[in-house]
Amino acid sequence: MREDGLGNLFARWEGSAPELPAVGTGSHIDAIPYAGMYDGTVGVLGGLEAIRALRQAGFRPRRSIELLVFTAEEPTRFGIGCLGSRALSGTLNPEALRLLRDNEGRSLEEVRQAAGYTGPLEEVQLPENYYSAFVELHIEQGPVLEQEGVPIGVVTAIAAPASLRVILEGEGGHAGTVLMPDRKDALCAAAEIILGVEAFARGSGSINTVATTGFCEVHPNAINSVPSRVRLEIDVRDVEQNRRDQVIRNILQGVEQVCTRRSIRYSVEIINMDPPAKSGSEVLKALVEACGEASVRFKLMVSRAYHDSLFMARIAPTAMLFIPCRGGISHRPDEYASPEDIAQGVRVLALALAKLSQAEEKTPPKDEPLTLND
Ligand code: GLV
Ligand code: MN
Ligand code: MN
Repeated sequence: MREDGLGNLFARWEGSAPELPAVGTGSHIDAIPYAGMYDGTVGVLGGLEAIRALRQAGFRPRRSIELLVFTAEEPTRFGIGCLGSRALSGTLNPEALRLLRDNEGRSLEEVRQAAGYTGPLEEVQLPENYYSAFVELHIEQGPVLEQEGVPIGVVTAIAAPASLRVILEGEGGHAGTVLMPDRKDALCAAAEIILGVEAFARGSGSINTVATTGFCEVHPNAINSVPSRVRLEIDVRDVEQNRRDQVIRNILQGVEQVCTRRSIRYSVEIINMDPPAKSGSEVLKALVEACGEASVRFKLMVSRAYHDSLFMARIAPTAMLFIPCRGGISHRPDEYASPEDIAQGVRVLALALAKLSQAEEKTPPKDEPLTLND
């Protein structure tokens, strides 16, 4: 076992050829507020169980198999998702990590040191060719598998997420005495912007565009005071990067128009605008073969949620396995996946890890850039 300076945790089952790039699996155990118990956790405990099952069966891997528990996959604390995997893949460098602050103004540096993670951030990025393959087991977080009665989803691509932070500064005052023509109400501007975000996503021409204003902080947040300052955080996603970026341009334009008309000062920070990831063909092949060996039906599908795999795909051939979750519900306390479905996912994961751990030395060919049609 080892932990890096950011708290990413690695548990290695050494193979008979430990000098070869390893096979990685894993997910996250952090959660958003009012979350369920399965998002992420299934991939961590499932990965552990897959390794246990292989050991119990007397399997001996050639390449080492490594279980990862990624730090802060959810954006809740530091405002950006996949902190651990961004750092491991070199997508966020130590300087950028040091600039991060939580809602209480505490720096990532301070928080990690207080939690006992004192190792150098410079050593978090993994060396080149550290993994020959990476597989993440996860609940689908959508309704497709359950609706179609298919027990396994094999993920061919992960949609492209982006997020924005908008600060609106108006003028506060007494709710009884500031007359309506004199108001510069930051929350009224925010309300227009939020409806604009929804309208731009709905009007993109594709069902695959989604946009959410999931965070709104109002100052001073008192019934008898005109809101003077609002912070919004907006999440925009699509499987098609250009279409997503067009929605972002529309939102930026909308913010400018609303704020000009209402005499509100504003700033917009683009927190992240990540490109989509395409699964590695060799890993996909291993997953499909594993489904065959386990006699399990599967469906090729796209992930609309983001995952640490989005960033692992930048440094290793990567793919994901989905299992159904009840009603497609996720990011809610009533999220649920049945023990039978989890077991099925773990069985396929174990077979795939076994296959990938026996793979020859050659590195799989680099995949073509992703183009996804609806
Ligand atoms: C991950 O939790 C996501 O928001 O897709
Ligand atoms: Mn999540
Ligand atoms: Mn997750």
